[in-house]
Amino acid sequence: MCGIVGYIGPRDATPIVLNGLKKLEYRGYDSAGLAVIQDGRIEIRRDAGKLSRLTELVNGSPLHGTPGVGHTRWATHGAPSARNAHPHLGATGRVVVVHNGIVENFLELRDELTAEGVEFNSDTDTEVIVHLVEHHLASGCDLVEAARRTFREIAGAHAIVLLSADEPDKIVCARIGNAGGLVLGMGEGENFIASDIPAILEHTRQVIFLESRQMAVVTRSGVEVETLEGAQVTPKVTLISWDAAAAEKGEYRHFMQKEIHEQVRSLTETLAGRVDFTEGSISLPELNLTPELAGNIHKITITACGTAAYAGMVGRQLIESITRIPCQMEIASEFRYSDPIVDQHDVVLAISQSGETADTLAAMEEGRRKGAILWSIVNAVGSQAMRVSNGSISMQTGPEIGVASTKAFTAPLVDQYMLAILLGDLRGTLSEKTRRALVADLRLIPDVVGRALSHEEEVKKIAWELKDVRDCLYLGRGINMPVAYEGALKLKEISYIHAEGYPAGEMKHGPIALIDENMPVVCIAPKDPWHDKMISQIQQAKARGGTVIAVATEGDELVASLADHVLWVPECPWMLSPVVTVIPLQLLAYHIAVIRGLDVDQPRNLAKSVTVE
Ligand code: AGP
Repeated sequence: MCGIVGYIGPRDATPIVLNGLKKLEYRGYDSAGLAVIQDGRIEIRRDAGKLSRLTELVNGSPLHGTPGVGHTRWATHGAPSARNAHPHLGATGRVVVVHNGIVENFLELRDELTAEGVEFNSDTDTEVIVHLVEHHLASGCDLVEAARRTFREIAGAHAIVLLSADEPDKIVCARIGNAGGLVLGMGEGENFIASDIPAILEHTRQVIFLESRQMAVVTRSGVEVETLEGAQVTPKVTLISWDAAAAEKGEYRHFMQKEIHEQVRSLTETLAGRVDFTEGSISLPELNLTPELAGNIHKITITACGTAAYAGMVGRQLIESITRIPCQMEIASEFRYSDPIVDQHDVVLAISQSGETADTLAAMEEGRRKGAILWSIVNAVGSQAMRVSNGSISMQTGPEIGVASTKAFTAPLVDQYMLAILLGDLRGTLSEKTRRALVADLRLIPDVVGRALSHEEEVKKIAWELKDVRDCLYLGRGINMPVAYEGALKLKEISYIHAEGYPAGEMKHGPIALIDENMPVVCIAPKDPWHDKMISQIQQAKARGGTVIAVATEGDELVASLADHVLWVPECPWMLSPVVTVIPLQLLAYHIAVIRGLDVDQPRNLAKSVTVE
């Protein structure tokens, strides 16, 4: 997933673009570059490597001017290198482009342009964009029309920003499909463009989220938005409530550590305004739910990717247990191609932190195509998933910068719990007494999460014991079985240790052969309805020489007597227990990765939001 920053105004664009790119570092990248219009010419600096390399280039060979645009690249076509880094310049040297996405028809476009005598200087698909724009400019179009024609000729999903030295009073940009968003920031006599809010939040809180197949002409004085077909659009200006500090690490060493510890606040935020503890009721007005609509739902299909999918696996159990509505969780990359059996009586519920994950958006589109009601649980304000939903519950956790998702796992657990209570209440399948009891349990969340976090030093000691393991099994049952998958994913993606989450009850059907003295086994065994089953699981693992690390409820001496190490969590009602059992596993993965000296916030090969297929 690439990062884009643009600026047009009276100030020198170079420092504004560079600082903006720094705020997008979490998106992961392998090269970076920027371009400004300086004394009527386009100046470019770009190279492979981290942003520090680009900063060195700029310091060594300064460039000053406005407008300007910058880019951090996560390579899809063309290896990470200076020649493939964005921005890309056209043959005339008067037009430059930065791009996020894939030009799916770039080979045929490249052949056509080559046949016209165009010489390509990179291996990227992106370069065809700037040559196409120049092709239309040469036919007499101005930049806006040349850009529009180009945007309509390229296939695939894109976020594109163009500058021209011949028309330095404007920046032209577009969003086509789901290749990561484009946000326009409205300043005083200056305006901004970015892939994500943190890049421009220090300059403005007033933003416009470009929608798919929309283009914008951004000048110092304002923004004009229209469709690719030329229809004028009156854009909605959104005021961003969280502050720039929320997108900073503060006193923490990594964003991931900060976000793990933010979960007391983020869960308080996701509850805020939705729970009436006096009445024992839940309100989710964004879903526009009525008793009739709730009563007519035949089935709910939850769809998501990665950590969000594991949160959906917990939600599936909560929704079925509380509402008795049939509920399934389908991995989005499978659901989108499965010709699913859903119709107008069904709900497709997408979960996505970024709201821009290509597979999840495609799964939502498949649900819509089949007539289903689209709901979503999303963190990123203004994201595509939020916009295409019939109703969307905001996670309200504030920005999640670390690639490894943490607070965007626990927030949807609580959001789905609240949704289940509301649905059960509206359908009449929940007595008032039960409803009040379930709502009352939500009051415990901030305290139990804070107490789980207080065990961090003990977790760190266990991390030292496990830092050199090569494999690790995570086992859970029932409501905590998905936590086994999530705990394993956390370890995999930031420490690069092979880890496997598995349903504990399934071990005897083969995988138990894996257990020996070299196979540590994390057993999630809190006081929940499956506690006794997990006790026997711990005994089975010990009997085969496995080292057992148990997640256990404070005071559970039985587990302590059996396991080699214990990750303590406070007592918690079983339906909400995944909110606390996941915390020591987040901390364990974090500290193992730190001890191993790895790049926790930007793990190799990963991006914060996977906006390509
Ligand atoms: C989890 O730590 C990963 N970052 C990844 O699995 C992520 O959860 C997945 O890509 C879904 O992202 P989303 O929530 O933004 O849709």
